[in-house]
This record gives sequence, structure tokens and C-alpha cells, in this order.
Amino acid sequence: MQVIRTIAELRDALAIHRQRGFVPTMGNLHDGHLQLVRQARELVGPAGAVVASIFVNRLQFAPHEDFDTYPRTLERDCQLLEGAGCDIVFAPSEKELYPEPQGYKVSPPTELADILEGHFRPGFFTGVCTVVHKLFNIVQPTLAVFGKKDYQQLMVLRRMTAQMALPIEIHGGETRRSEQGLALSSRNGYLSEAEKTEALRLSRTLKELIARWHAGERDLDGMEAQALQSLRDAGWAPDYLTLRRQHDLGAAVEGQPLVALGAAKLGSTRLIDNLET
Ligand code: PAJ
Repeated sequence: MQVIRTIAELRDALAIHRQRGFVPTMGNLHDGHLQLVRQARELVGPAGAVVASIFVNRLQFAPHEDFDTYPRTLERDCQLLEGAGCDIVFAPSEKELYPEPQGYKVSPPTELADILEGHFRPGFFTGVCTVVHKLFNIVQPTLAVFGKKDYQQLMVLRRMTAQMALPIEIHGGETRRSEQGLALSSRNGYLSEAEKTEALRLSRTLKELIARWHAGERDLDGMEAQALQSLRDAGWAPDYLTLRRQHDLGAAVEGQPLVALGAAKLGSTRLIDNLET
């Protein structure tokens, strides 16, 4: 496995590979990320190249968020990636990827990107789309794999790829969880042991929303308000807990595949999760 720091070297290394599977990450890897790498390997075949990028993208962090403290663990990440079948790690410096302030941006449509995560993290999806579009131009993959853990991100990037006519197949990877059911996340490292147990309440609450819908309840506003309150009662600060249709994250509709999505702060750690139904 090669670890490459510059765009020029990456292009050289990739020149011989026609099939390229790409997994963008911000590092501090866990088995959720590695599962996406294994999926990329499987999709691209033994002759293709699997590229993972590690880059903590300043553009998608708000000033009060954890850009400076986001864990940077390159050496360990590279060991894990090698074990998962990665061929090339692209880990550019900030100067390499953003040699001048990134004035040109990719800004996604409001109806997809200003709701849910985008509502609570203004500018987040512009930061994500800009860096992923740029990484796509650098790596020129034939396929890319993103986790369903970040459900709205996967949807926004799928639409970007289609609307910009990028010749890249977008694949979704299932959310990896701990044995207890906690969605793996780089930010779980911020949680104490007691918080890790309490953190399970988020997916439990999403499960309950789905169960109530399946039991025939249709007062979504009431159900969502109760779900928010139950998290608040347990000491959380929830941003949203909601049932949407999978297709475009619009209002839940009878007879269409749905997804329950939630984001909430436990202590100082913001967690997100979702469950498809
Ligand atoms: P990051 O949070 O490092 O996640 C990288 C990829 O891993 C994303 O596609 C994310 O959805 C996926 N992932 C995270 N936890 C997962 C889990 N438990 N199971 C399955 N997949 C999981 O998402 C980003 O980085 C950035 O926004 C990025 C796309 C790299 C752009 O900067």
C-alpha cells in the first residue's frame, strides 16, 4: 500500500489503473470506514485500485465545531487500511488541497441540503460537496462508496454526481454498529463509558418512531415532539428526530420506504443516526 501526499504523485500512481474505487474519509478510522474499503475492493475487483483519502476538511466545520480537536491518527489509520485491502492512501496537507482559499464552491440545492443536518449545520453540505467534487477530480474514480450512517450526505452526493454528470457510480454502505447497537463514529471517542451506554437511546428512540408508524399512528408532529421530549428528559439536547421518506427526505408518506433520522448532543458530543424501514 502506498501513502501519497501530493496530487501530482497520486495522478502518477493511478495512471496505470482503469478501475478505481474511492472511499473519502476524515481519518480516525473504525470498522465502519473499513467496511466501505472492503466494499470498494469487492466492487472494483482484484485488478482495480482502491483509494482511500484522509483529509479533515476545514470547509465543512463551523467555527464553533471540533476542527482543531478532530482526532488525527494517520499512522494507525494506514495500518488499518492496509489490512482492509486498500492500495493507495491519499493524505494531502491542507496546503496541498487548498493552496489558496477555496473561493469556488459546489453549493447543493436548498431543498436537500438546508434541511435536517443542513439546517443545524449551515454551510456543511457546501463544504462536503466542494471537497468531494475536488477529490473526485483528483482521483477520477469509476466508483465511490459512502456510508448510510450519514444518510443525507450520501443523498446529497448522489444527486451532485448525477446532476454534474460525473462518470462515477455512487454506492451506499450499511451502517456498522457496536455489539450493543451504537453506530460507530469517530466522535464516539469523545464519549465516557457511561455516555456510550446512554448513547444507545438515540437509535432506540428512532426505532420507537418506526414502530409507532407501523402500529398505525399518523400524528407525526406529535410523535416527533414526544421523541424529542424523551431525549431531553434523559439529559440530551436533540436537534431533530423525524420520520421521512427515503427517496428525497420529504415528509413521510403512506406506502413508501421511510427512514427515521436523528441528531442530538449528549454532553458535548453531537451524535447522528438513522434507521431505514
Ligand atoms: P467521515 O466522517 O470520516 O466518514 C467517511 C465515510 O465513512 C462516510 O461515507 C461515512 O458515511 C462513513 N461512515 C462513518 N461511520 C460509519 C459507520 N458506522 N458505518 C458505515 N459507514 C460509516 O463523512 C465524512 O468523513 C466527510 O464528510 C467526507 C465525505 C470525507 C468529506 O469530507
